[in-house]
Amino acid sequence: MRKIAHISDLHFGRNDPQATQALLDDIAEQQPHLVAVSGDLTQRAHHHEFAAAREFLAQIAAPVIAVPGNHDVPLYNVARRAFTPLKRFRHYISAEPHPFFGDGEVAVLGINTARSATLSNGRISHEQMAAIGSIFGQVPSARFRILITHHPLMPPPDAPERDIVGRADPALQAIAAAGVELLLAGHYHQAFTGDIASYHLAARRSILVSQAGTAISTRRRDEVNSYNVISIDDRDVSCARRVWDGGRFSEAMTQHYVLVGHKWLPHDRGHGRKTRTQV
Ligand SMILES: [Fe+2]
Ligand SMILES: [Fe+2]
Repeated sequence: MRKIAHISDLHFGRNDPQATQALLDDIAEQQPHLVAVSGDLTQRAHHHEFAAAREFLAQIAAPVIAVPGNHDVPLYNVARRAFTPLKRFRHYISAEPHPFFGDGEVAVLGINTARSATLSNGRISHEQMAAIGSIFGQVPSARFRILITHHPLMPPPDAPERDIVGRADPALQAIAAAGVELLLAGHYHQAFTGDIASYHLAARRSILVSQAGTAISTRRRDEVNSYNVISIDDRDVSCARRVWDGGRFSEAMTQHYVLVGHKWLPHDRGHGRKTRTQV
């Protein structure tokens, strides 16, 4: 079994200091094998914001894998945005273009979807699609494959009109061919889970999606701060959402999925039966 804490949209510079400390405490209690950070670590890509994000991440005992978000690219300095958009992220957080974590059970890859030319929607390049194939191609086939992006490949079920990452269709083909089972992303500041095939009707495979809300930012969009703890036990996955109540983070709900044949199905553990409930 592997436990991954998925945190997103920290937005240092606009973070709630109490929630920030409580998140560190809660992650320490959860004892995850890995912490995945799906972008927007800062509010405006300022030095002091990246320094605060780095200090935060340094206090996490588990390995950390992080990708940038659109807010981690300088917004107002046009030259910096155009020519060195990720310089500060690379300096303070991670210089690794394809951050990867692998062990005997999971293989986790992060790719950068933030772009200088587009302010918020992001994109996956053809080079990144090739990298997804080649990096996961070196991983034994039984490993559970996870891809982290900032920009989502699927909109929220209650807002299907929302923009998803650019080139999602060809990227999904590469992702499916690479055997990825779970997509972790943020950006919407809205937590939900689902099957990519429920939106991308032409998708070659059922792939789980787990979206994290904003963990500690005060930029909440009608939703409380939260993060997810994902437990992976072979082809049995649970996504626990832990929400901030102003005093601490605690579990609000857990969604279970099992792989039946080639399809991820919601699984009602309480009654020991599978359901086809739409999520
Ligand atoms: Fe964000
Ligand atoms: Fe974002």
